[in-house]
Amino acid sequence: MTQTYKIRVENVSKIFGRDPKAALAQVQAGMGKDELLRQSDHVLGLHDINLNIRAGETFVIMGLSGSGKSTLIRHFNRLIEPTSGRILVDGVDVLTLNDHDLRAFRRKKISMVFQKFALLPHKTVMENVIYGLLVDGMAPALAREKGADQIRLVGLAGFENHFPGQLSGGMQQRVGLARALATDAEILLMDEAFSALDPLIRHDMQMQLRDIQARLHKTIVFITHDLDEALLLGDHIAILKDGVLRQVGTGPEILMAPADDYVARFVRDVNRARSVTCGALAVAGQPQGDLVLDASQPVEAAFSALAASDLPIGVRDGNGQIAGVLTRATVFQALARA
Ligand SMILES: Nc1ncnc2c1ncn2[C@@H]1O[C@H](COP(=O)(O)OP(=O)(O)OP(=O)(O)O)[C@@H](O)[C@H]1O
Ligand SMILES: [Mg+2]
Repeated sequence: MTQTYKIRVENVSKIFGRDPKAALAQVQAGMGKDELLRQSDHVLGLHDINLNIRAGETFVIMGLSGSGKSTLIRHFNRLIEPTSGRILVDGVDVLTLNDHDLRAFRRKKISMVFQKFALLPHKTVMENVIYGLLVDGMAPALAREKGADQIRLVGLAGFENHFPGQLSGGMQQRVGLARALATDAEILLMDEAFSALDPLIRHDMQMQLRDIQARLHKTIVFITHDLDEALLLGDHIAILKDGVLRQVGTGPEILMAPADDYVARFVRDVNRARSVTCGALAVAGQPQGDLVLDASQPVEAAFSALAASDLPIGVRDGNGQIAGVLTRATVFQALARA
């Protein structure tokens, strides 16, 4: 095996209810999620998931609400145990860890930014961020220094002594991110970590995460509902429906060849971009940077450049004259309306 996998998920199924094993037998005999719930009051969380997540990549999980995203990611640090199958992290089956090793594993190797912020309400921003470091025995002065760096990184300098209840939802989410980054864990699990942020801050956080990733090469598992975010951040994207994995691939693979109608629904915004030309979306302005596109090209041609930088891209008409520019804001707004 030449490829290093950080996380391997092998035949994982998860059923919620009184007798999961019996319910699993019914699922294996072909029963779907809806029928299982109707007949036996069990919920099919995940069914026979197989995944390989490479060291140093950002792996995105997408799917509608209730499709099993949080359930899947919570298996990785064993907040949830599978009904069947196993999860290997660096080759170690997480189900074999004893209490002591599991605590060390959660403190040092894998940290999580939750969908709900899970901050300690009676501790300040700084105390929340460095809590894990102090539990781990780090000297308080050093922990505060590290904490201050992470708080600055997520744009919350000045709020160190505020309590979570005094912050907006987006700010609380950034405290959660700072806390996860402060631990230096090799694996970051991020469950809709940016969903509560307003668009500008969200974009800043996405760019910061890319910077952090370029420098630190963590293994990041990132859940989102947002295709643009998935394409911007994900080296690979997995799409779940009703607890079943429908497709895993790179962003371009999923855009070019969606495996089924469900996947196609997630990519329809981008597919729309194939039929809209750069000329149709150009607005007045001065190009910056080197890229210039033809007015007749599909606007899709601008996507990777727009994802990487905010500079206006030049659009030239049939005579080779600059006719206008494409900017990230105008392109995405226009496509969202289309
Ligand atoms: N503790 C639980 N007990 C019973 N059912 C559960 C439990 N946790 C999750 N489920 C069920 O498992 C399925 C998957 O839930 P999960 O929270 O993983 O969805 P999700 O994809 O993260 O959705 P969202 O986008 O809304 O966060 C749902 O049908 C949910 O009702
Ligand atoms: Mg969820």
